[in-house]
Amino acid sequence: MRKKIIAGNWKMNKLPNEAIDFFEELAPLVKNAQNEVVICVPYTDLFYSLMHVQGTDIKIGAQNMHYEEKGAYTGEVSGEMLKAIGVEYVIIGHSERRAYYAETDETVNKKLKKALELELKPIVCVGESLEQRESGKAKEIVTTQTKIALQGLNNNEVSKTIIAYEPIWAIGTGKTATKEDANETIKWIRGKIEEIYGKDTADSVIIQYGGSVKSSNAKELFEMSDIDGGLVGGASLKADEFSKIINYNQ
Ligand code: 13P
Repeated sequence: MRKKIIAGNWKMNKLPNEAIDFFEELAPLVKNAQNEVVICVPYTDLFYSLMHVQGTDIKIGAQNMHYEEKGAYTGEVSGEMLKAIGVEYVIIGHSERRAYYAETDETVNKKLKKALELELKPIVCVGESLEQRESGKAKEIVTTQTKIALQGLNNNEVSKTIIAYEPIWAIGTGKTATKEDANETIKWIRGKIEEIYGKDTADSVIIQYGGSVKSSNAKELFEMSDIDGGLVGGASLKADEFSKIINYNQ
C-alpha cells in the first residue's frame, strides 16, 4: 500500500514570524494524522520552520534547489545546503519555475538525480497547460515530462521519487480537475513508468494531485485508486484549512 503524502507549497508567502505562528497552530491539529504531512516553505523560512516542527510529525521541504554542489550561481541554493540544515523534501520543476525561470525537463532531471544522491525526498511536478489540454496533448506532455525527469535513474531511485501531477490550468484558478480525470492521468503516468521500470516499481511510486485542492474536494480526490495525496498551494496557507485537508479521512 502506498502512503498518502499531503504537502503544502507556500510559494512566495509568509515571513518567518508568520511561519512560526502557522506551525504553532497546525501542530496540535495534525497530531494524529494518518498521512505524511509536509510543508514546503520559502528558503528564508526553512530554518525557523525546522526549529518549530521539532517533536512533531510535520516535515519541512524546500521549493527548489540547484543541481550543482557549489559555485558561481548567484542567488541559488544547493541540495547540500538544504541537507545541511535538515530539510527533508524538495519540490523540483514546479510549473511556475518552468514558466518563469527557464526550468526544463533536462534541469529537472539533473536536480532529481542530485536530490536522490543526497537522500532528499524529491517531489517532481508535471502537468499540461490549458492549451495543451484543449489540443488533446495532455497525456503526451506528461509522458515526456515524466520520462525525461526519470532518465538515467535505477528502479530504486524511481521508487523514491514522488511525482505531483499538477495541471497548470487548475493551479490557483479554483478549477480542480475532476477526480476521474485526475485519477486517469495519474494512472496513465504510472502506466508509462511501468513500461520502462516494471509493475513493482510503478506501483510503489507516490503520485500526488495538485491544483486547487481544498478541504471541500480533498476527500473525493484522495480516495481515488491512484491519487496518493496532494500538493496544495493556496489552501496550505491557513493552518485550519490545511489541517482539514490532511485529516480528510478522519
Ligand atoms: P493551488 O492549490 O493554489 O491551486 O496551487 C497548486 C500548486 O501549485 C501547488 O504546488
